[in-house]
This record gives sequence, structure tokens and C-alpha cells, in this order.
Amino acid sequence: MSIQQALDALRTDTPSRVAAAADLEQLAAVEAETVGKRSIIAEGRRSLGAVPETDRKDLGRAINEVAVELESLIATRRAELERSAHAAALASDAVDVTLPGRAPKRGTIHIIQQALDEVVDIFVAMGYTVATGPEAETEYYNFTALNFPPAHPTRLESDTLYLDYGDVPEEILLRTHTSPMQARYMEQHDPPVYLVVPGRTYRSDPLDPTHSPVFHQVEGLAVDTDITFGDLKGVLEHFAREFLGPEAKVKFIPHFFPFTEPSAEMHVWHNGDWMELLGCGMVNPAVFEAVGYDPDEVTGFAFGMGADRLAMARHGITDLRHLFDPDLRSMEQYR
Ligand code: DAH
Repeated sequence: MSIQQALDALRTDTPSRVAAAADLEQLAAVEAETVGKRSIIAEGRRSLGAVPETDRKDLGRAINEVAVELESLIATRRAELERSAHAAALASDAVDVTLPGRAPKRGTIHIIQQALDEVVDIFVAMGYTVATGPEAETEYYNFTALNFPPAHPTRLESDTLYLDYGDVPEEILLRTHTSPMQARYMEQHDPPVYLVVPGRTYRSDPLDPTHSPVFHQVEGLAVDTDITFGDLKGVLEHFAREFLGPEAKVKFIPHFFPFTEPSAEMHVWHNGDWMELLGCGMVNPAVFEAVGYDPDEVTGFAFGMGADRLAMARHGITDLRHLFDPDLRSMEQYR
């Protein structure tokens, strides 16, 4: 095959090969074979020297024409492929701003915490201050300062979770109620006192529908020059109506607590039944003496309520264990 014939074949075959090159890499291969260093075109140019002078010019022009034609064909195809590669890159990078977003999971305030917060808010609105105390408490503040006699049954290990701190001068325990803060607060502050203490409390109880070794209370204490049992009833009735609704009915039943005298339980009418909500009473003068207040100068009332029970009443929950269910779905219902 003469060079001319090879050039003709090249001219006929190349356009379809260029058109068939699906990407820049394939096009580069076609380019190398057709106009590259080892192509017929390059070979033809190299052989020109050996061609008789008369034919040389024509052959040289013919080679150049084919080369220019093919090179422009390849350049056009290259531009085309580059454009579509760019478009494909843009398309694969595209962000669809109309897609729904991935919202972060919203947390829930636990309904016990909601109840604690609400109780505190109701008393803060009446001018009460808020304080919290240690959950690991000394036997003195948990019992002795509150007038519990040395042999009182709740001091027993069967009722109370004692902590082992080794050889310490005084037993340390997980507080069985929030009442120790009454004594701690009065030791640090002169009267008048209007105080609420929300917090976690512990007893040696197995977990069952109505008991939990960990539970929550809100303690209250009002001390002033002439506080009466009427004040206690008025404040706690107001609280019950604020928390449970204006129809909430309450009744007081005589009870005994070492740190109040007289003492009572307040029950509320809820869901067709009486529910015990809190213990309360007039601060026992023995407690005033223990904290350095003069019982002839001040009187006061105190109360302690179960916050877990309030949360259950609010939401109609009948089994306490649901409150401590680690399955988030149980608490997510109460946003
Ligand atoms: N601390 C008591 C309890 O846990 C509740 C209580 C009763 C608190 C009478 C008081 C009170 O402040 O005056 O059972």
C-alpha cells in the first residue's frame, strides 16, 4: 500500500473512530494512532526525504492536509467531550436544596424534672427561694437535727442506704428525704425563711409499681414571726390548685413526723380517689433549737412532697417503673 493509499484509508476511517471515542482517554488513543508520533502521518513525513523530488511537494501537501483535517476533527471532539465531562461533574456535585433536611433529634425534659420545675415555679411565684443540698448526707442532718430519736426505725440499714467511707467520725448515707436541707439552710440563714428544695432521695426499697430506691422530693419550709397552721393549709391548697387544676380538693389527715408538731398528710382528690401527696406540719421547736433559732420568737411550717407521684398523677401513669424506663419512647410522649 502506497503512502497515498494509506492516507486515503486514514481519512475515511478516522471520522467514525473519533466520533465513537466515548471519553477523553479513548480520544487520546485515537489521536495517537492517527496523527501521533507512530501514525502513518508521522511515518509519511519521515519518509519524505526518500521520495523523488518531483513527487515530494505533492505528497507533503497531501500529508499536511490530512493531518490538519484530522487534528481539527479531534480538537472538536475533544471540546465536546470536555464539555460533557464538566457537565457530568457538575451534575454529580449538585446539592438538591429542596430535599427535606435531617433535623437533629429533639430531647425531652423528663416528666419528673418537669414536675420538679413546675412545683418550684409555683412556690417561687409566692416568694420562696430555691436551694439544693447534698445527696450523700450525714446522719446528723438526715436524722439527728430533725429530732429523730437514736433508735428510730428509719435509721436502720434495712430502710436506709449507708455509704462506706471507712473510718469516719459520722455515718454517711444517701439522704432518705430532702428534709436535711431545712436544718442546713436554717443554720446558714437568719429568719424569715421561705424555701423550697427539689432533689433526689433514696431508700432501701425494691423497685415495684409504687416504690423505687431512687425517688424525688420537694421540701418546703416557711419560718417567720407568726406563721400558723392556717398559713400551711392555705399555701398547700393553693399549690394543689395551681398544679392539678382549680377543682383540686385537698384534705389533711393527722400524722406523725419527729420534726413537725402537729403533723399531717395532705391528700388530694384525683381521678376519683384520694391520693397522698405530701407530709407536712408545724416545725417542731426541737428543730429550731438544733439550728440555733429561738422557738419563742419564730414559728414555721414545713412540708415534703413526692415529685414522682406528682408526675404520675399529672399524666395518669399507674406504674412508677415507667418513669425509669430506659426506652426513650416512653418519655418522648410527654414533650
Ligand atoms: N421528710 C418526710 C418524708 O420523706 C416528708 C415530710 C413530712 C417533710 C413533714 C416535711 C414535713 O418537711 O414537715 O416522708
